[in-house]
Amino acid sequence: MSPSRRPPPSCVSTSPATGARRCSPSTPRPTASCCPVHRTPRLSAPLEQTLYRRRTHRSFSAQPVSLHDLAVLLRTVFGPAEFIDGFEYGALIRRTSPSGGARQELDAYLAAPNVTGIPAGPFHYNSREHSLELLREGFTHTEAGALCVHQEGIDQAAFIVFVVAAWERLRAKYRHPRAYRVSHLNAGHLGQTFALAATALGLGPFQSAAFDDSAVESRLRLDSATHSTLYVLAAGHPTPGTPTDTADLNAFRHTTLRHGQPGRSDN
Ligand SMILES: Cc1cc2nc3c(=O)[nH]c(=O)nc-3n(C[C@H](O)[C@H](O)[C@H](O)COP(=O)(O)O)c2cc1C
Repeated sequence: MSPSRRPPPSCVSTSPATGARRCSPSTPRPTASCCPVHRTPRLSAPLEQTLYRRRTHRSFSAQPVSLHDLAVLLRTVFGPAEFIDGFEYGALIRRTSPSGGARQELDAYLAAPNVTGIPAGPFHYNSREHSLELLREGFTHTEAGALCVHQEGIDQAAFIVFVVAAWERLRAKYRHPRAYRVSHLNAGHLGQTFALAATALGLGPFQSAAFDDSAVESRLRLDSATHSTLYVLAAGHPTPGTPTDTADLNAFRHTTLRHGQPGRSDN
């Protein structure tokens, strides 16, 4: 049976009232299908080793990622580290990555074509509750490739995280255009934390800005007027062998590393 056709686990159900199987942060649906995941975030790999081991991977094996590892990753990157008092803004979430004004306008939407124990999604990750909310069922590797304009390896990744901005959460505090930049910087922080956490778990991370915005937002059933997808993160078990693209002498002969050096004209 292909991973996307696995039956849903018992913790995933359909709302008896509406049949709804979607939930978004700006439109909470208390009856949405919910899949609580493990709460055991423990990364034991030393930081320095993790930093230097991190590489972008573009080739993944068919070995599925365990729900446990996915849960640790989601909790570490997108879950709450603590709840803080934002005074006039009420309770706010702190994550392991910084977020301008602690607005936490970025949410994780997940597709899991090769994760054990859950349907392929797509899901919304409810970071407050650390649960996965099933939006609808059926997501394939082929679809991942098509949504991400066939970036190398994305159609082999065990799971894909779409980092989505819910603009209203940011606008509640910041109403100037520069807030848009803040959100992109926030996405970069989450991307790096994702890459390091995945590496610490022995997974291979991938990240990309190359995807079809409209197609992704339609697939995730997002209102493009209020939500934007900023970043695609993915991971899986890497195929054995570290990617080797070490620069040789010939590469140094035509390097661009010198461009923009002080006192050097690039024209
Ligand atoms: C914002 C961003 C977007 C990226 N987009 C892509 C992409 O679309 N396709 C791809 O193959 N790699 C993409 N990458 C990966 C970079 O090419 C990679 O980080 C770079 O080659 C350095 O390799 P390293 O990550 O292993 O250090 C992206 C990286 C970043 C930070």
